[in-house]
Amino acid sequence: MIVSTNKSNPNALKLIIAGEISGNPVELRIVTASDSPLGRLPTLELPNGITLISSTAALQYLVPGDEQQNIFVNKWLEWDSTQLQPAVVSYGSSGSLDTSHKPRIWSLLTQLNASLKAQKYLITDTPSVVDIAIFSTLWCTIFMPEISKELSNEFLYVNRWLQDLEIFPPVKKSLANLAKLDLERGFKSISSLQSSAWYPMNSYTGVRTQKSSQEVVTPSSPAKEPEVITEKELETSRNNWSRPKHPSIKAPTYPVLPKKNQRNILITSALPYVNNVPHLGNIIGCVLSADVFARYARQRDYNTLYISGTDEYGTATEAKALEENMAPQEICDKYFGIHNDIYRWFNIGFDYFGRTTTPEQTEIVQEAFLRIKSQGYIITESVDQLLCERCNRFLADRFVEGTCPRCKYQDARGDQCDGCGHLVNATELINPRCKVCLQTPVIKASNQFFLDLPKIQPKLKEWASKAEKSWSNVARAVTRPWLRDGLKQRCITRDLKWGIPVPLEGFRDKVFYVWFDAPLGYISITKRYTQEYEKWWRPSEDAKVDLYQFMAKDNVPFHAIMFPATLLAADQGHTLVKHIMATEYLNYEDTKFSKSRGIGVFGTDARETGIPADVWRFYLTYIRPESQDSNFNWVDLATKNNSELLNNFGNFVNRALTFAVKNFKGVVPEMELRNDDLQLLVLVQRELSQYIMAMEQAKFRDGVRHLLAISKHGNQYMQSQQPWVLIKGNEESQVKAAGTVIGVCCNISCLLSALLGPFMPETSRQLRKQLGLDGSTYGYIPDTVSVLLPPGHKLGEATPLFSKIEDSVVEELRKKYAGKQDNGRKAFKAGETVAELRAQIAAQGAKVKELKAKTDNSVWQPEVQILLQLKIKLATLNEGSDGTVNTATIGVVKAENGPVQNGKTECDAVAALEAAIARQALFVRDLKASADKSVWQPEVNTLLKLKKELSDATGVITPNPGDKKSKKKK
Ligand code: 2FM
Ligand code: ZN
Repeated sequence: MIVSTNKSNPNALKLIIAGEISGNPVELRIVTASDSPLGRLPTLELPNGITLISSTAALQYLVPGDEQQNIFVNKWLEWDSTQLQPAVVSYGSSGSLDTSHKPRIWSLLTQLNASLKAQKYLITDTPSVVDIAIFSTLWCTIFMPEISKELSNEFLYVNRWLQDLEIFPPVKKSLANLAKLDLERGFKSISSLQSSAWYPMNSYTGVRTQKSSQEVVTPSSPAKEPEVITEKELETSRNNWSRPKHPSIKAPTYPVLPKKNQRNILITSALPYVNNVPHLGNIIGCVLSADVFARYARQRDYNTLYISGTDEYGTATEAKALEENMAPQEICDKYFGIHNDIYRWFNIGFDYFGRTTTPEQTEIVQEAFLRIKSQGYIITESVDQLLCERCNRFLADRFVEGTCPRCKYQDARGDQCDGCGHLVNATELINPRCKVCLQTPVIKASNQFFLDLPKIQPKLKEWASKAEKSWSNVARAVTRPWLRDGLKQRCITRDLKWGIPVPLEGFRDKVFYVWFDAPLGYISITKRYTQEYEKWWRPSEDAKVDLYQFMAKDNVPFHAIMFPATLLAADQGHTLVKHIMATEYLNYEDTKFSKSRGIGVFGTDARETGIPADVWRFYLTYIRPESQDSNFNWVDLATKNNSELLNNFGNFVNRALTFAVKNFKGVVPEMELRNDDLQLLVLVQRELSQYIMAMEQAKFRDGVRHLLAISKHGNQYMQSQQPWVLIKGNEESQVKAAGTVIGVCCNISCLLSALLGPFMPETSRQLRKQLGLDGSTYGYIPDTVSVLLPPGHKLGEATPLFSKIEDSVVEELRKKYAGKQDNGRKAFKAGETVAELRAQIAAQGAKVKELKAKTDNSVWQPEVQILLQLKIKLATLNEGSDGTVNTATIGVVKAENGPVQNGKTECDAVAALEAAIARQALFVRDLKASADKSVWQPEVNTLLKLKKELSDATGVITPNPGDKKSKKKK
């Protein structure tokens, strides 16, 4: 195959590499642009005589890819040609490396780095077309010695990836033979860039830079870095504009079922325990994230079903029932109502919100158990437990109290001692007593059923190694150590009353435990929704289903291990999760949400604040903890509302509409696109493409930012065009131009109304009404920017969509949800009195205990650090208030370690060490998830050193990575 190209054309390099990788080296012919059809270079002549003039098409022809990944491949190729290439051209165009363009390149490299870090869609084992394309662009431009050092400091993953590719044999071979092409690593002397080679290149064709005679620079921000827009982008935008693709989508009719040859999307959010009132963190982690995605999917016209429900069985419900003196089912009914109300208020659009205490659940769980048992994946083992003979029941940990074996505190609970914070084993308590009747329980062994995870492990591992590519980072980070270190048998039954009975003679007084019972809730809840539920859960070949599951990181083991293991063991062709969309945790004003201490906003509080549900949804999505824990902050909420919603988005759409109503009788004027208008459309198109790319991967934070960037461009356009001046102009062309500007702005507002839908459905509906659209249809989210409101379309009435949140309101709300203040001797910050700290320690201890049982080191380790820090804080406070460090109370801080009066300083040093350890641990965790041992081992060593220092200082040994497996509960 023949590649015709001009000299120094980086796009030719792509085809050369692609040829080598595919085993069909291309033949190179040096020509000039005028020799080529449409002046485009390079071209690829195929054996059948056809010539491909798009280098992207040529590239994909040479290295055909995986169909599944196509959407991502296309987005990244587009990113290369419409974002990266223009950016590097600007960067190297001014005769020297122009640093004013650096921020743009740096932000693009940050995106690339993150993606490489996540090992998503860009792979190094066998380079894909995306690897080849982006590598080629970077290799012949900024991958030069001067920048390499900066690259390796700031973009570890990009740098490693470039280096790996550079020595990959077919690539290496291609790079060694570039003399004919006159290309080399880094910017080929800056002068040659200027002289010609860049400008007449294929997809770089028409790229105008500041040096070029025909500058194309956005009109909007002369002071800022000018955007470089290619001729090709302008042309594409013009073509797209007149070819609207916007089917009107009606709400689906019941029941939604998978359809042949369609994208069938099943969405779940983790089933919340019924008796916990969800707080903002729970809401964004599960139901709200899933809802944003479900709305997005419906607005893309994907065939979508979103289900969830409450998880109602287990000890927590039994405990709550005792506490509130009600029957467990009554408790479930009461709290189910509370959940339902909260989610309805937040406008969560479930197709069905069910519960687990249903006959369908009993049937599905029992059948699944018998099936898996018959397949040989269930084993029986004896487990020691405490039995209260008077109450005639085995005691769950929280139903036992006794003396702590460690500090001798007399009211230690069966899971944890509030005296020393030590995690207790119920069977180790001295003088244990039943919390209900105070009788001493006896230790009794009883047989339980275990899921034989080691036996399923090979199948599970094989599945996960492929599936994990489309999981969120934290989902992968939590799962990998489990599979790497080997799974253990996991107990799936308990001697409790409130649950689904085991359907076997001799075992009927046992019930299934949450590990087995809860995930099957997804199936039983779907069955409550439709009798044809198996079409979703055991789909036919021609109507496949993509399952997206949303959750916070502590629920990852359910979805990455237990549920798929259960379904694989059943071996009945069930739908397995494709996208595990897990988030990190949300903190509340730099502390933790706590119902008992009144800290934080819980579902029921949100509506009492007077802030609309849509604003909550917007802000929670804006701060969604996607790559690390994030923080809810009242001042920030008000700022985002006032600046982004009110001043940016609201201002743009309101100005466009009001102007049209006042000056064009409320109809969309005729539009004759000029260059200025097309340039806006190009910028909007770029944001739209990136919005879709982000939303497809459930990266909602990016989605929101691209959406807001569109209205920002819109505002700048309006400001620079000044339609209010044009309309008063004497010439007809000026008045016409004013009409075009307003017509374009109304159309962009219409696009925005659709893009806003997933985040702010009610506001989106209002805006669509103001735009004169039918409120019963969804706004379709199109791939391209086009006319959505044609000239003559009658608009509705313009009213402001948002209102300002005043500082005084923020202050009031902040105080209201900051927890109860203590008027004691010392003015501690909220949540820091001795009593409150003890409560915090107890709560944190319980959390750690729960996490340790359910999750891995990477999840619970940071929580242990928090626990330790709280204990140290308590030590400091005790010292401050009564002058002694109470070692019996704090347990972990060794009094002998230093004179009492030094307690505080010492604790400060300890706290600093703690923080360093926590940071290092997170760093190690991230590295382990994505780098190999040579990279992370030195970091692990640093971590161990820090821990040693800490243990020297405090006398407490903190667990090291690797310690945990032996302790993990079955
Ligand atoms: O941990 C929990 O919150 C449990 N209710 C289980 C949630 S995951 C499940 F639904 F699969
Ligand atoms: Zn008892």
